[in-house]
Amino acid sequence: MVIEVFGQPRYIRAKCECAFEREAQEEARRKEAERQERIQRVFDLAELGPRFSECTFAAWTARPGAERAFQTARAYAEEFDRRMKDGQGLLLFGRPGNGKTHLAAAIANYIMPEKTCVFRSVPALLKRLQQANKPGSKTDESELMQALRDADLLVLDDIGAEKWTDWTESTLYFIVDERYRWKRPIVVTTNCDLEELERRVHERTMDRLLEMCTLVENRATSYRRERAKKRLGRRQS
Ligand SMILES: Nc1ncnc2c1ncn2[C@@H]1O[C@H](COP(=O)(O)OP(=O)(O)O)[C@@H](O)[C@H]1O
Ligand SMILES: [Mg+2]
Repeated sequence: MVIEVFGQPRYIRAKCECAFEREAQEEARRKEAERQERIQRVFDLAELGPRFSECTFAAWTARPGAERAFQTARAYAEEFDRRMKDGQGLLLFGRPGNGKTHLAAAIANYIMPEKTCVFRSVPALLKRLQQANKPGSKTDESELMQALRDADLLVLDDIGAEKWTDWTESTLYFIVDERYRWKRPIVVTTNCDLEELERRVHERTMDRLLEMCTLVENRATSYRRERAKKRLGRRQS
C-alpha cells in the first residue's frame, strides 16, 4: 500500500482483516487468562480439598430419593455454557449427609478448569471475609468480593449453617445480589428445608435465590450414616 508522508510516497505493508481479528482474539484470551488468574489468586481453587476434589458424577452411587438431584446436577454441568449465559443456578436442599455437597463439587469438577469456579462453605467464606477486614490481611474484602462476583460459577455450600448476625445477613445478601445483577449463576446447598432457609437468610436473599436457582430436593437418607452402619456391621460380624 502506498501512502504519502510529507509529500513523499511511502510503501507500507497493509494488515489484512484476519490479522486484526487474530489480534483481537489474542487480546480477549489474554484478558480472560488475567481474570482467571485474579480469581484464583484470591480464592485458591484447591480449597475444594482432597475429599471433594474426588467427588465426581462417576463416583456417585445411585440411591433411592437422590435420582432427580443427581440427574439435574449432571444435566446442569453438561449444559453449563447455556446456564451460565442465563445466570441460572441450582439450590440443592435435603437432609444432611445425602450427597448435596458431593453433587455441587461434581459440577465444579466437571466445568473446571475451562471455567472459573469459587467453591466455598458459607461459614468458612464469612470467616474469611471477616478476617479480610482486619489490618494486615493480605487480601482486602473488596478483592474477595470482586472474585466472588466475577467467577463463572459460585458454589455456596452449606448455606444456613453460619452463625447468624446482621453482618452475615447483609454480607450474604450483597454477594447474592451482585451475582444477580451481573447475571451470574450460583449453586447453593443447604441442609435446611425451604422455610427454615428463608428464616435464616431472610426474605430478600431468599427471593433472589428463588429467582436465580432451580430448586432440587435430595430426598435420600444420609449416605454417611449408611456407610458408618456398614462399617459397624463388618466389625461386629
Ligand atoms: N450417592 C452417593 N454416592 C457416593 N458418595 C456419596 C453419595 N452421597 C453422599 N456421598 C458421600 O458421603 C459423604 C457425605 O456427603 P455430602 O455431599 O457431604 O452430604 P451433604 O452435603 O448432603 O450433607 C461425602 O463423602 C460424599 O462424597
Ligand atoms: Mg454439605
